[in-house]
Amino acid sequence: MGTLFKVGSNSLFSSVQKHQDQTFLRFPTSISVSFSSVSKSHNWVPLKPQNFDYLQPFVVSSKRVSACLNSGERLAMSSDEKQSLKNDVRKKNLAVFVSGGGSNFRAVHQAIRNGDVNGQFVVLVTNKHDCGGARYARENGIPVIIYPNTKNEPEGLSSNDLVAALSTYKVDFILLAGYLKLIPSELIRAYPNSILNIHPSLLPAFGGKGYYGTKVHKAVIASGARYSGPTIHFVDENYDTGRILAQRIVPVLVNDTAEELAARVLRQEHKMYAEVAAAVCEERVIWREDGVPIIRSKSDLNHFS
Ligand code: GRF
Repeated sequence: MGTLFKVGSNSLFSSVQKHQDQTFLRFPTSISVSFSSVSKSHNWVPLKPQNFDYLQPFVVSSKRVSACLNSGERLAMSSDEKQSLKNDVRKKNLAVFVSGGGSNFRAVHQAIRNGDVNGQFVVLVTNKHDCGGARYARENGIPVIIYPNTKNEPEGLSSNDLVAALSTYKVDFILLAGYLKLIPSELIRAYPNSILNIHPSLLPAFGGKGYYGTKVHKAVIASGARYSGPTIHFVDENYDTGRILAQRIVPVLVNDTAEELAARVLRQEHKMYAEVAAAVCEERVIWREDGVPIIRSKSDLNHFS
């Protein structure tokens, strides 16, 4: 249990002890504690995630800690303290790959601006130099790279040059957000378990080559499926087959058109991509023994999704 709560430069909990499957934290004697919701023996308290909004190292002022402890209030982070957490955990460099309007890219960018994602977009890659996503990137000072090199896009890079370019931007994670070309194997090898894609159906259903845009939603409606929703998955060398990381469910209504269903799914895509980007940047993705990636909840160490 490596979680450490700090007060200024001093540790709030002077040490951590395991007893019968419970983790106990020891308060330094200088802090008097009266958690109403936590059973206490001497100055040891069991670590119960509901007592904290964050179970990550963070720094709070001793004054606020004392106030929370004395009143029994939850110890939640203020925006200054969120900032202090971000200073502790290195901000991640993100690349985004887009072929169209880029509404998912914009949603994650907005979440970064709101301070909800500890990352920054350092580059956008597109196969269409003038798509909406690329225009938005330029307007926001994010460099744009064209890939691949084709007759229509003579400025486009080769696969090896793309890998080299991304490494100059020190990219940590790549988010595919409506990028319609297959990702080259050179890139997948260079970024193991670091490339995510969003797909507008509940994979493994309605995925693979040919399932993109409204085609996905038409197929969902025609199948009679009562639920649909987006999937975020890690990317391997095939379309839509990498390990699933997150999904959300929306109903398919009886009179839905493909456009109506697409809009309902897209609203969930925007929220989910921002949440997943936050998890990735805070290093909250862990891998189950059988290779399934899961996200550790921000507020409860024992809760995964
Ligand atoms: C989304 O529906 C996404 O699931 C799929 O492509 C679409 C991109 O939309 N991969 P936008 O460009 O983010 O608006």
